Amino acid sequence: MVGSVLMQRMRDERDFDLIEEPVFFTTSQVGEAGPDIGKSIPALKDANSIDELKQMDAIISCQGGDYTKAIFPQLRAAGWQGYWIDAASSLRMDDDSLIILDPVNLDVIKDGLSRGVKNFVGGNCTVSLMLMGLGGLFKAGQIEWLTSMTYQAASGGGARHMRELISQMGIIHGSVADKLDASSAILEVDRIVAETIRSGQMPTDNFGVPLAGSLIPWIDSALENGQSREEWKGFAETNKILGLSASPVPIDGTCVRIGAMRCHSQAFTIKLKQDIPVDEIEGMLAEANDWVKVIPNDRDLTMQELTPAKVTGTLSVPVGRLRKMNMGPQYLNAFSVGDQLLWGAAEPLRRMLRILMA
Ligand code: HSE
Repeated sequence: MVGSVLMQRMRDERDFDLIEEPVFFTTSQVGEAGPDIGKSIPALKDANSIDELKQMDAIISCQGGDYTKAIFPQLRAAGWQGYWIDAASSLRMDDDSLIILDPVNLDVIKDGLSRGVKNFVGGNCTVSLMLMGLGGLFKAGQIEWLTSMTYQAASGGGARHMRELISQMGIIHGSVADKLDASSAILEVDRIVAETIRSGQMPTDNFGVPLAGSLIPWIDSALENGQSREEWKGFAETNKILGLSASPVPIDGTCVRIGAMRCHSQAFTIKLKQDIPVDEIEGMLAEANDWVKVIPNDRDLTMQELTPAKVTGTLSVPVGRLRKMNMGPQYLNAFSVGDQLLWGAAEPLRRMLRILMA
């Protein structure tokens, strides 16, 4: 799915015009015609052929972590010196890899390139979307610590998870479809819905439990300290992206799967290093990059602008609900929404290729 979104973005931005000889690789359709990119390309090559891959100056992979783990070491062992760009977590924390999110860490990327770094990896979607939204406060060095409570979409699990969510929604609706008129007994409707969700008849092969009409407060595997791996990434990857691993900003929270399709939302509690007025904070956030959009803390605007329904399929990263909290003037509340398939996955990869070709 990330590959399809990446191809669409590369076509939209005419990236292929800049690539002299694009070559497409496949694990399953070797020899078949490649995608239509507006110029002639060779037939699809074998993504398991180290000899073929070795001919490339740069490789972008959306094939996933298992592919990276299997192929990347063989390529390097075969003496390949090209640029490797992928979205899998396998290489992210390696010392010789950088996590790419150029609107936030172009300086770290440029420094890495000048030091000869060759491995560039897109970050975890939740981390990248947090940094696209809050980049201005991080850049200003004003965050003492933060917590992020997430509302993560089905697409983070993959295409099958999205289908499963819709199927679950359909089954719930079907169970009471003939009882939804205004005069229906709502507690009876609710009882049937709850029974349906618990009945074992919902498709749950991918999520493991019903998500529609519910939520799942655990994403990815368990670590020994009680965190989920998704929660661990919030701290580890954010500080690596910002080049702060030596004196990291404390970040922690709870990652939760909800029934949205492809937008991850996050609620933040931010301890600021000092009492900064909210209008100054809004200015810092808004100026940080071209995609962040500060939404005034107004009910109607928030309901219109700060939702997955509004943001899905776009590169916009709205940030709102900005207000000081009861805990004191250094405590800031914030909420962000972003499309996890765009800034959370595909977009940093194609932009890294552009940086290499500049
Ligand atoms: N791990 C994320 C999620 C997606 O499950 O939502 C990829 O970063």
